[in-house]
Amino acid sequence: MAAATSVVVLDRGNNTTCTINLHGATVVSWRVNNQEQLFVSKQAVFDGKKAIRGGIPFVFPQFGQWTFGPQHGFARIMRWNLEKPPERLPSGDVEAIFSIMDNDFTRSMWNYNFRLTYRLILREKELHFNIGVYNPSKDLTFRFNMLLHTYFKVPDVRRCQITGLHACTYVDKVQDGAVYQEARDAVTVCEYTDRIYQNTPQEHIITNVVSGRKMRIQKYNFPDTVIWNPWSEKAKEMIDFGDDEYPNMVCVESGHVSSPVVLLPGTAFEASQILQVM
Ligand code: BG6
Repeated sequence: MAAATSVVVLDRGNNTTCTINLHGATVVSWRVNNQEQLFVSKQAVFDGKKAIRGGIPFVFPQFGQWTFGPQHGFARIMRWNLEKPPERLPSGDVEAIFSIMDNDFTRSMWNYNFRLTYRLILREKELHFNIGVYNPSKDLTFRFNMLLHTYFKVPDVRRCQITGLHACTYVDKVQDGAVYQEARDAVTVCEYTDRIYQNTPQEHIITNVVSGRKMRIQKYNFPDTVIWNPWSEKAKEMIDFGDDEYPNMVCVESGHVSSPVVLLPGTAFEASQILQVM
């Protein structure tokens, strides 16, 4: 029997494509006019077990270390279903829908019934992400974190500026979780950085991404923004990340991680993100 296909391609024409690996429903490539927008490490492991190092891993139901299961939860290491194969919409945009639900593996760590759908729409210069989580239980409430762990490809992270963080409170994971307030109008990453900015505005702009362009991030129902770059020392500790790759990426991650989403029986949570090349 032929091996089951593990990647799904949305092709909008004009060398504009989005590739999703069913392992984690990880977006592993987003090309706009043939220009790749996402960073994937040359050392990334595609063994269907480990989380893919780069692109857009889907973090759920836990952000960070987890007593009951792997760091950043199980969604990024599960094989997702292709709920709806790529389809061209009347606008010319292309959409596909992915899903997971509870099974023996998820219930061994997190004993709840759930259904998660992930709809991606590829537009000319935009990628839209619509997420829905449903709690089908009659009596059990559950809590979760969710985050889109986006690795943007950049020529030199030290030359990128990230807007929309000014005056926001952040938890600095590099400083044992100390809490600070951001004083800068635009944030530049020039060292090992791992911060959870809280109650951030709906929009961030990153300057100097590929081809010197700007990237707009718009998010809904994602109150937090995580900024991460491992820099040289941490890079060396990761087996699936090249020692010299850190200048070429920045993670700007939309999430609901500072406080959990509390989902009552029979209700649904929705969140979305739009990435736009400007
Ligand atoms: C970030 C976290 O979102 O992901 C970091 O804030 C973490 O603390 C990073 O190191 C990468 O995590 P992982 O599990 O993919 O190596």
